Amino acid sequence: MLYSLARNLLFQVDPERAHALSLQALTQAARCGLVQPGSARTVQPRTLMGLQFPNPLGIAAGLDKNAEYLDGLGALGVGFVEVGTVTPRPQPGNPKPRVFRLPEVEGLINRLGFNNNGVDYLLQQVARTRYHGILGINIGKNFDTPMEKAVEDYVFALRRVAPHAHYVTVNISSPNTANLRQLQGNEELDRLLGALKSTQQSLADDNGRYVPIALKIAPDLMPEQVDAIARLLVAHRMDAVIATNTTVARQSIASHPLSRETGGLSGAPLHEASLHVVRQLAKALDGALPIIGVGGITSGARAKAMLDAGASLIQVYTGLIYRGPGLIDEILEAIA
Ligand SMILES: Cc1cc2nc3c(=O)[nH]c(=O)nc-3n(C[C@H](O)[C@H](O)[C@H](O)COP(=O)(O)O)c2cc1C
Repeated sequence: MLYSLARNLLFQVDPERAHALSLQALTQAARCGLVQPGSARTVQPRTLMGLQFPNPLGIAAGLDKNAEYLDGLGALGVGFVEVGTVTPRPQPGNPKPRVFRLPEVEGLINRLGFNNNGVDYLLQQVARTRYHGILGINIGKNFDTPMEKAVEDYVFALRRVAPHAHYVTVNISSPNTANLRQLQGNEELDRLLGALKSTQQSLADDNGRYVPIALKIAPDLMPEQVDAIARLLVAHRMDAVIATNTTVARQSIASHPLSRETGGLSGAPLHEASLHVVRQLAKALDGALPIIGVGGITSGARAKAMLDAGASLIQVYTGLIYRGPGLIDEILEAIA
């Protein structure tokens, strides 16, 4: 009820401004003690990637790109929070406007392009937070790093963030950085995963702590590409896979006036495609590594559908914009 009032006001302003305003308000409330940071609710707890999740519901990457709102997000009761995507160096992202609401279908199109303050800034924020729940840090490459040097960006970012994260996500599936999704190709991915695994091992030897790595993939893959990725994930002993990022497909919103906006589509119109990839991964992986399901979870029923498709953990982003924090309660009740 409260959120539907706030939503009417928030939807009057530009989406990026509304986003910052609501997260600032939540974080202020947590810092003043109005809500408790780090109060994860225990619902269907589980151990995955060697980590104990108090519940399987997390915040997806992109909501808190610079880890500035962890205190507030931690107060929502979720089982884990993923921050980023962070790149080695700060970068402004694409020109505005770059986020579009599609309220009729509970969707969003964004072409932000990894706008973020860089890895040093993110780690300063992480050091300051009172959130002590499970923290994932999602890493990417700078837009102006040539593709032949992309692996170096990922290795650099992994080295920097791993000592401060419970797990690290490698994002090669954003549609808003030119050519990034090429890294999902067989040879490119084999090389990238090889470099990440050897870095992960040397970090574990140096620091005495193994930090799991998840790979985040796109929904716009042919079935044979999903199978090929699954084989590489197993061969490289990756720790988890996150499916999916936003889609460049527009079939689900073909008649919408904003359907021609460039960028990644998220929210309800993405749900079927994400479920499809999760089902296919579940079959191909056969339990070899856990799947984190994300895409269009806008209700308790859709959260259950994602878990039934084979996900062990789930994440939300766009659903929170339309439904507010009440969505978290609804999902945790539905899966209890
Ligand atoms: C505005 C916006 C920004 C996003 N930024 C990132 C990002 O930086 N890194 C990433 O891995 N995913 C990013 N995502 C994708 C989400 O993490 C998620 O995979 C996708 O939106 C599907 O989930 P949803 O339908 O619940 O939003 C972003 C999504 C949105 C809507």
